[in-house]
Amino acid sequence: MTAEMDPVKLMKQEVGRQAAARVESNTIVGLGTGSTTAFAIQFIGERLAAGELSNIKGVPTSFQASVLAKQYGIPLTTLDEIEAIDLAIDGADEVDPQMNLIKGGGAAHTREKIVDALAKYFIVVVDSSKLVAKLGTTFPLPVEVLPLAVTPVTQALIALGGRPELRMGIKKDGPVITDQGNMILDVTFDGIDDPASLEKTINNIPGVLDNGLFVGVANEVLVGEVKDGQATVRRL
Ligand code: A5P
Repeated sequence: MTAEMDPVKLMKQEVGRQAAARVESNTIVGLGTGSTTAFAIQFIGERLAAGELSNIKGVPTSFQASVLAKQYGIPLTTLDEIEAIDLAIDGADEVDPQMNLIKGGGAAHTREKIVDALAKYFIVVVDSSKLVAKLGTTFPLPVEVLPLAVTPVTQALIALGGRPELRMGIKKDGPVITDQGNMILDVTFDGIDDPASLEKTINNIPGVLDNGLFVGVANEVLVGEVKDGQATVRRL
């Protein structure tokens, strides 16, 4: 099977394309993190290069987003220089029927939440494997923690019924270090009954920067699906 025929890649590419098509000229766009958003960033860059779009600025949610934006010619700005974000496009690791999310598989959820929550409209781009009946059933909850607080935060998360594991690097010895210089605890809960309350409870533990629960932040979810080898996009 060639890379082009990989059904997951096809789904991600198509939702990325459709999200990029929603960007309008003269707007500020939040640029998310992950392999699906990477396609959206690529297609936004292609629309700019083709002259279909003009005068947009991106607010990156990670080093990955800023590297890709530079590669595809999207001008960048910062939260200090703008008054509002018109549209944010970002991926997710789980999406429940209420459009609540788990994010942070790429360790970027703290900055993503700032940008996505500020946006007037937030579009989530996922392939169909991300849809779940209940959050926390297929993916652990990422929690960004100040390095000096990893031990007490681990104990506090165990007391909440979670099983935290320090995320380790790939092609890097030792723990993953976030773009802000912190560490990530991935916490298995075997299903989260009340995401809104757990989000607040975890963020109230001293030493926690933010966790990957995004409750009531998404306005729309674009879901990539493959039927008979063809990628299609469904809207939630
Ligand atoms: C980054 O920290 C995450 O929130 C991503 O948005 C999420 O992991 C989605 O990634 P993919 O699009 O690669 O699945």
